[in-house]
Amino acid sequence: MFHKKSIEQLMFESNETGEGTLKRSLSSVNLVALGIGAIIGAGLFSLTGIAAAENAGPAVTISFALAAFACAFAGLCYAEFASMIPVAGSAYTYSYATMGEFMAWVIGWDLVLEYALGAATVAVSWSRYLLELLNKYNIDLPHELIVSPWETMKLGDGTVIDGGIINLPAIFIVSILSLVLIRGTQGSANMNNFLVILKVAVVLMFIILGWSHINPDNYVPYIPENTGKFENFGWSGISTGAAVVFFAFIGFDAVSTAAQEAKNPQKGMPIGILGSLVVCTILYVLFAHVMTGLVNYKDFAGDAKPAATAFAMTGYTYLQDALIIAILAGYTSVILVMLMGQSRVFYTMAKDGLLPKFFAAVHPSFRTPWKTNLFFLVFVSLFAGFVPVSDLGHMVSIGTLFAFTLVCIGIMVLRKSLPDAVRPFRTPWVPFVPVMGIIVCVYLMYTLPAESWLRLLIWMTIGVVIYFIYGKKHSKVRELRNGKIIEKERE
Ligand code: ALA
Repeated sequence: MFHKKSIEQLMFESNETGEGTLKRSLSSVNLVALGIGAIIGAGLFSLTGIAAAENAGPAVTISFALAAFACAFAGLCYAEFASMIPVAGSAYTYSYATMGEFMAWVIGWDLVLEYALGAATVAVSWSRYLLELLNKYNIDLPHELIVSPWETMKLGDGTVIDGGIINLPAIFIVSILSLVLIRGTQGSANMNNFLVILKVAVVLMFIILGWSHINPDNYVPYIPENTGKFENFGWSGISTGAAVVFFAFIGFDAVSTAAQEAKNPQKGMPIGILGSLVVCTILYVLFAHVMTGLVNYKDFAGDAKPAATAFAMTGYTYLQDALIIAILAGYTSVILVMLMGQSRVFYTMAKDGLLPKFFAAVHPSFRTPWKTNLFFLVFVSLFAGFVPVSDLGHMVSIGTLFAFTLVCIGIMVLRKSLPDAVRPFRTPWVPFVPVMGIIVCVYLMYTLPAESWLRLLIWMTIGVVIYFIYGKKHSKVRELRNGKIIEKERE
């Protein structure tokens, strides 16, 4: 249970080439684009308004800065790991090297919450914006087929749908993107690059065109007075706002799942992780500033499409459709990268024997883990089609924060156990940075509803049972001796 994989073993595996292995095709630019692809999405376009209306007012900009700060601690730890252990699998692999097999399994299992459920959450938001677009052109889909059974949805014309049968558009987008991923990593990265250009362009368009229409009165008061409830305004409201918009930053770590497909991971990984985090933070703060300058924060209450509402104030009505299309493109890239990250984590776990071989199957010509992609096509579709979006969103946040916490612990363990290993990127101020990362992540977890904790516990319990029934028995230990891999079946 506590067996660790040595760095040498991991490096050997990362250098394997040929059939049955992933292809190194991603440049540093691709990696930054992957990061931005996974980051900018529902969090920015949907949650900014809610956080402003309920928690922080115009000071939601400070909430974004705080959330970025929290992510930076974990991001710096990820960067050291990813440059040092450039193997697919991200936090799962790092835990295998530092805390042993059981913790690695726990984190690999936990990452399903971040990546698979993350993809499902954004797919549901994607279907909402699609509906908005179709409605504008008077194309009506039957309500039963666009809303999941336990979800209540308010349409643009005010009609309330209280529970449908299935969210088909969400399943549609998950299926298409899974097929794109099977077709090839380079092709998926090219598609992602295109989508990222489109979504960054729309964020810039929003900021630039919106700036001259800002009404300074909307910034008074910049930090509305606390109403007596912890989460409503004032400094406590700003910190709750940070927990809400944390979702907008989820995904920067997805870059590290593609380490094995990076051309030069030692250099590319830190650039991809930290670069995308910096770019997105700047864009987020400016976007939130313009958004709360265009419309009074109180008017965003209950608005699921605040970006569209704010942009309407600029008078560029003919650009509204372009805005929605670009937002759809943005969500598409989030789903794409999340699905990709998920398949890489399961691929790695299966290669280690902790999951059945099925998940490690690489397509002979596409060189992608296609069976895993197919499995998650079905798994993610089930969640996207049948589970309400808010339940999904909280699960994603708690799962991600848990993974970040373990990565921060892992960095401190690795500094003790392997002080002299080559570290192309070093996390600064250890242990201050990882300890701060842990404190912030645990605090943000604490702000999430009790049901999320219960669900996390149930999910992890299922995982532990599977580990003892399957993983522990089939786990492979690979040892590098004299340049040769010797595989041992472990008891
Ligand atoms: N950060 C991603 C988003 O906001 C998950 O959609």
